[in-house]
Amino acid sequence: MATIENSTQTLTLTMNGTEVTFSPGETLYEVAQRHVDRDVPTLCYDERLEAFGACRLCVVEVEGIRNPVASCTTKATAGMVVKTHTDGLEAHRRTLLEMVASENREIDVDPLSGYASQEMKTLVDRYEARTGRFQGKQSGKSRPDDPNPFIKRDYDLCISCYRCVRVCAEQEGDYAISVANRGFETQITTEFGGFLKDSACTFCGQCIQTCPTGALADHKALRSKDVPGEVKKTRTICPYCGVGCSVDLMSKGDKLVGVLPAMDGPANLGALCIKGQFAYDFVQHSERLSTPLVRGDDGVLRPASWDEALDRAAQGFKDAAANHGEDSIYAIASGRAPNEAAYLTQKFIRATFGTSQVDNCSRA
Ligand code: SF4
Ligand code: SF4
Ligand code: FES
Repeated sequence: MATIENSTQTLTLTMNGTEVTFSPGETLYEVAQRHVDRDVPTLCYDERLEAFGACRLCVVEVEGIRNPVASCTTKATAGMVVKTHTDGLEAHRRTLLEMVASENREIDVDPLSGYASQEMKTLVDRYEARTGRFQGKQSGKSRPDDPNPFIKRDYDLCISCYRCVRVCAEQEGDYAISVANRGFETQITTEFGGFLKDSACTFCGQCIQTCPTGALADHKALRSKDVPGEVKKTRTICPYCGVGCSVDLMSKGDKLVGVLPAMDGPANLGALCIKGQFAYDFVQHSERLSTPLVRGDDGVLRPASWDEALDRAAQGFKDAAANHGEDSIYAIASGRAPNEAAYLTQKFIRATFGTSQVDNCSRA
């Protein structure tokens, strides 16, 4: 009975002078996000991953503990008295940001670099940390020699948050990249230091999208860096398989320039595969059909109206059924089509021709 009472007991702590509730297992960062302060800065944190505690930007003061603790890795306990913003904490955060900023050749990376690529720039600006006080030694050697067309490996901009390594392991289950060496020699690398194409990498792009500095960046999207205009984002569903991952298409004017995974997409929570992430060229391919084509008596395709094309197709179906029987007709619904179109395809084949020879390719 005592156990039941304990498990239903409301747990509370005090944060920035306000009593707040929390659930067993929650971290101070999660409690702060939910209740009091959505402004605690982070750099090594990605809510989809195990907290890591590397950057120390999220530190908070806890009464009775001498040094500030990382809120992303510290579990909340009942009765804690926590402060998330004090002059001391803010000074500490600014100094940390000055140090990480001092290592990077470039802070203002292009937003086309990736979903999280502006995180460091935003924090450096918020804390006015471009002071140059700690300029000097740098870590991370870029790999401009890697010939892959998708992922720019510009490790001069790496701050060793390890989000890329963790997302590759925890989210993608791939373990294609890892950390070699320590301190200023720290290097994100593949096994044997080779190219990504020779590693276990599936080019899912997750490491790009979680990188907070643009050290890992979307090579393909960056090709449109100099296309004039603002980047517009349009929420849609990936047109490939039946999973239905949510994406934000990036466009400049009428040009599709890249794809961002939707972190709040119910089917994917920010994950994509190589096709959803990078295979969007078909949308604006010069050979994409823009009008129906029918074959003339000479066997050559020519543009036609929709009515003419549909009449021709209907006649083809009828001829096939009449000459070869109903089972000579077989439909495959495209995995790119929505459920409604797939439903209509099977209805059309079953009701019109009396055959059940229908399938689809949504098995990715
Ligand atoms: S490449 Fe990016 S995500 Fe990976 S450790 Fe460096 S800064 Fe972090
Ligand atoms: S693209 Fe995907 S599989 Fe390849 S290193 Fe990045 S996270 Fe790992
Ligand atoms: S976000 Fe908590 S230590 Fe980096």
